[in-house]
Amino acid sequence: MKAISENLCYKTVTLADTKPSPIAFNLIDNGEDIPLLFIHGFPFNGSMWHRVANFLLNNSKPETNKSPDITTHQNNFLNYRTIIPDLRGLGKSKLTTLTTNSTKINTAIEQYADDLNAILNNIKVNKPITVIGLSMGGYIAVQFAHKYKNRVNSLVLCNTKTAPDTPEGKLVRQTLINDIDHSINPSNDILRNIADSMIPRLFASNTYSNKTDIVDEVRSMIESNNLIGIRAATWGMMTRHDTTDLLKEFDIPILVIGGEEDKFTPPDIMKQLAQTAKHGKYIEIANAGHLTPMEQPEQFAIALNIFVTEIITPIQ
Ligand code: MLT
Repeated sequence: MKAISENLCYKTVTLADTKPSPIAFNLIDNGEDIPLLFIHGFPFNGSMWHRVANFLLNNSKPETNKSPDITTHQNNFLNYRTIIPDLRGLGKSKLTTLTTNSTKINTAIEQYADDLNAILNNIKVNKPITVIGLSMGGYIAVQFAHKYKNRVNSLVLCNTKTAPDTPEGKLVRQTLINDIDHSINPSNDILRNIADSMIPRLFASNTYSNKTDIVDEVRSMIESNNLIGIRAATWGMMTRHDTTDLLKEFDIPILVIGGEEDKFTPPDIMKQLAQTAKHGKYIEIANAGHLTPMEQPEQFAIALNIFVTEIITPIQ
């Protein structure tokens, strides 16, 4: 695979009417034709999708302009427009505060969905989209597909769930919020602690032992975040509702992608998700943990391409 950012360039989309102040969203918007909206997980940023996006864009063949043969889809990629924002407060889409001590900003999952809708309007995406969300990105993808159903023709739910936090899970989130609120010297220690506690459980054993570039990249993604955004998202996840009933209602194709060694959202949960959906399909990626698109980007991109190809050119 070629260098991570080879095909990708960032742009900034400023939404002037976001609260509490305007937000300059950092995003990738590369390629043409079939729009794919990628929503990252927590506490990461859009760069977790770079490997997949590069693979898709490298394999697009705009000049051939012919329908893909769905019986041999493996290397027959459609032409994609990859849209990959950093969510509000995360990555480089910083939440700025109006006063120095107003760090207590909460972001509901629905708010992230509203931001994405505004971004798509701003960059003039008019075609129906495939929405792809990982973990927290999956929570947001479900809300997005519910609120903006006319925009969405398919969903890809990766390493995620529809159940809300358990009481124990809520307590862990509240402890993090309290730590952030009471910390004197905020960023470094808290972010390092988050990375230290998550990283050993995030990956498949082979990734953790042998793909140190990915592990290092994830650590720097976590540590380069800003506590205002981390707090806001933690609150959003802690207060989110059960969306199982929404999933049952969606009348669109849904691909559920699980990682064989995912400890956060294990394969059983993911299979159940696919069974719950009206038109759900499950695939499991071997040698992947919670971060399937980073750990196995080629397999991920191939599965995604097959799924979208079948939607656009249904099997007779
Ligand atoms: C994520 O990867 O987005 C998180 O595991 C989601 C969560 O903490 O619920």
